[in-house]
Amino acid sequence: MTTRKIDTTLVSAGRSKRYTQGSVNAVIQRASSLVFDSVAEKKRATAGRAKGELFYGRRGTLTHFALQDAMTELEGGAGCVLYPCGAAAVANAILAFVEAGDHVLMSGAVYEPTQDFCTKILAKMQVSTGWFDHTTGSEIAELVQPNTRVVFLESPASITMEVQDIPAIVAAVRARAPDAIIMLDNTWAAGIFFNALAHGVDISIQAGTKYLIGHSDAMIGTAVANARCIDQLRENSYLMGQMVDADTAYMASRGLRTLGTRLRQHEESALQVAEWLAARPEVARVNHPALAQSKGHKFWQRDFNGSSGLFSFILQEKLDDARLAEYLDHFHHFSMAYSWGGYESLILANQPEELAAIRPAGGVDFTGTLVRLHIGLEHVDDLLADLEAGFSRLTR
Ligand SMILES: Cc1ncc(COP(=O)(O)O)c(C=O)c1O
Repeated sequence: MTTRKIDTTLVSAGRSKRYTQGSVNAVIQRASSLVFDSVAEKKRATAGRAKGELFYGRRGTLTHFALQDAMTELEGGAGCVLYPCGAAAVANAILAFVEAGDHVLMSGAVYEPTQDFCTKILAKMQVSTGWFDHTTGSEIAELVQPNTRVVFLESPASITMEVQDIPAIVAAVRARAPDAIIMLDNTWAAGIFFNALAHGVDISIQAGTKYLIGHSDAMIGTAVANARCIDQLRENSYLMGQMVDADTAYMASRGLRTLGTRLRQHEESALQVAEWLAARPEVARVNHPALAQSKGHKFWQRDFNGSSGLFSFILQEKLDDARLAEYLDHFHHFSMAYSWGGYESLILANQPEELAAIRPAGGVDFTGTLVRLHIGLEHVDDLLADLEAGFSRLTR
């Protein structure tokens, strides 16, 4: 995985005495009202309300501050804002910076609800969206308009897993629109495998619902921003009523402590499965950023320091509905579910035309059924046996 001593940061970040108050973990402080002992104290809390003073529940309690500090340290930002889920983090981060007449430039391979937010919500606010081919690098410069306010990236792409040349994109955007805010959905890398802010991104967003929580039992979103964006991001989230309950914030902090260890296993097992799949005759291509055949592999190799458990592969053939159901319905260790990032393995399939329909900047270059896997923490031999049985069902 990583050469940074990230495990130590994951254990220690956000555990100052102010937050732990004598225990190992930060306290769970549930509060709407926070009471002040004096007029002077109320004044002080009000002045510091955006800077970690206890002011009002919606601004956060010690439990939230502990998580925010930890995420800020982990991703090297100036601060962190919490949201009730990843989709809320995406939507509110964009909303914090746009107004009527602005333009948002978006990779055409981002998570589908992120696209829908642009076409269904931003469009109503007279904010237009332009889409660019996910693998575009410096060519993006031609698409940047004088009113481009936000450039939104997701790398690797949702489902098809192409890795973007983020340094080239950042350089091209900065040359053309220095004030544009560059955001990245950094969920796949979990804030560990790719250091977004160090690569020039302004805001690194995570659906903490996935690896941070890690057990498929809670939802949270995080956005770590640099100094030029954090105040506006934080204030907007407060005014939009974006908050997370203290118990969920606690669970996210707890998830951080084992994140490195869990990810190492996700990474190791996923690589083993991906390589096994790459050697199968039923498989046309494996979209795993760490494999040379995967699109943007060279950018992953240059910019990332590891890989997580989510990837996809394309079958040689396009399965009809009946065969697809026969294939998917009988796995023992892979459940079908839309989320990912928990300890359990998951499987989903998409037909090429379904994916082409959600690639506004261009179609797809394959004809077989795409299968997306999340490799969990089960023993890899059991997963391989399950996948082998799946292929046998296809040849029966
Ligand atoms: C890449 C990515 N971003 C954002 C989200 C949204 O996260 P949430 O489900 O927490 O709203 C998801 C959920 O699947 C995702 O895969």
